[in-house]
Amino acid sequence: MHLTAATAPIGTFRPIMWSRTVIAVDLLERDDQLLCLRRAWDDALGGSGSTVLLAGESGVGKARLARVFADGVDDGQVLWGVCDPLGVPRPLGPLHDVAADLGDPVARSLAAGAPLHAICDELLRLLRERSVLLVVDDLQWADEATVDLLRFLLRRMPGTRSLVLATYRDDELDHQHALRGLLGDVARSPAATRLDVAPLSLEGVTAMVGARDIDPARLHRLTRGNSFFVTEIVTQGGEVLPPTVRDAVLARAAGLDAVARDLAELVACAPPGSRTGCCRRSGSGADPCARSTPPGSWSATGGGSPTGTTSAGSRSPTPSLPAVT
Ligand SMILES: Nc1ncnc2c1ncn2[C@@H]1O[C@H](COP(=O)(O)OP(=O)(O)OP(=O)(O)O)[C@@H](O)[C@H]1O
Ligand SMILES: [Mg+2]
Repeated sequence: MHLTAATAPIGTFRPIMWSRTVIAVDLLERDDQLLCLRRAWDDALGGSGSTVLLAGESGVGKARLARVFADGVDDGQVLWGVCDPLGVPRPLGPLHDVAADLGDPVARSLAAGAPLHAICDELLRLLRERSVLLVVDDLQWADEATVDLLRFLLRRMPGTRSLVLATYRDDELDHQHALRGLLGDVARSPAATRLDVAPLSLEGVTAMVGARDIDPARLHRLTRGNSFFVTEIVTQGGEVLPPTVRDAVLARAAGLDAVARDLAELVACAPPGSRTGCCRRSGSGADPCARSTPPGSWSATGGGSPTGTTSAGSRSPTPSLPAVT
């Protein structure tokens, strides 16, 4: 067990220290994904670049996985850009984060507000010349220009020596979300992969609890293996509702409309074993369940077991999107 960096640095990847004392453990249950990422990176070094998306619920551990992988990359340039949850999205925000390290001409074009297609071309040229691991974290908040840029790159990555690694919350996308088109491209492209990041199993939660006086089975049941909730509760010595967890849940609830918030409140005080399906049947109009079920929504959903499964390297059987090299 050791202390590790908690916050994703932006720009060139540099591990930084925690701003508060947190007990951190090694990365648990991510060997399959790390293996896939390493293969993708080796292919990129060999001249067959690609795009990998890490998908999973909020707090499941997407950024941590990306960070651990990035930490292990010492044979290329690692750049880390983020999308922010802004009311007015910052055009090409993640690219601006890494502009200084990309250097000219991309940096100059970004600063000058050059057309998107010119920036796309310049970035592509750079990714062909150098081996770059370009991480884009929190794609669910991407501005449209960033989504366009990634869609442009996706089909052209096989001709590069680089890897684009993007993370996104798959529980925050409605049908109209700007990311939907990109996800469709990923499903149809042989040069793109989606890796699902699953909640921790009971064994993982048990490993995180270690010798502490916390019942791992109960913690797993309460959190459904959500890494963020498990980490925070373990850090607080087993306190079931640490302030960090409360704030994270309230932040999610703040984004709900009135119907969904009412439903979330109803579900929150429903007895264990109740199922959201009952609420869906009793509610009216559009399905608010999709909007009101935060990650690790605990016993209120009645599931009690982790939702997603790890499908490292899973691809859709839909027809291929031709690569442009
Ligand atoms: N596999 C893991 N083993 C141990 N700890 C983990 C693991 N995955 C994540 N964690 C811890 O769980 C917490 C949440 O992880 P992380 O920030 O990566 O989640 P996320 O999926 O990026 O969340 P968000 O969608 O909110 O950005 C962090 O404290 C992280 O260190
Ligand atoms: Mg994250």
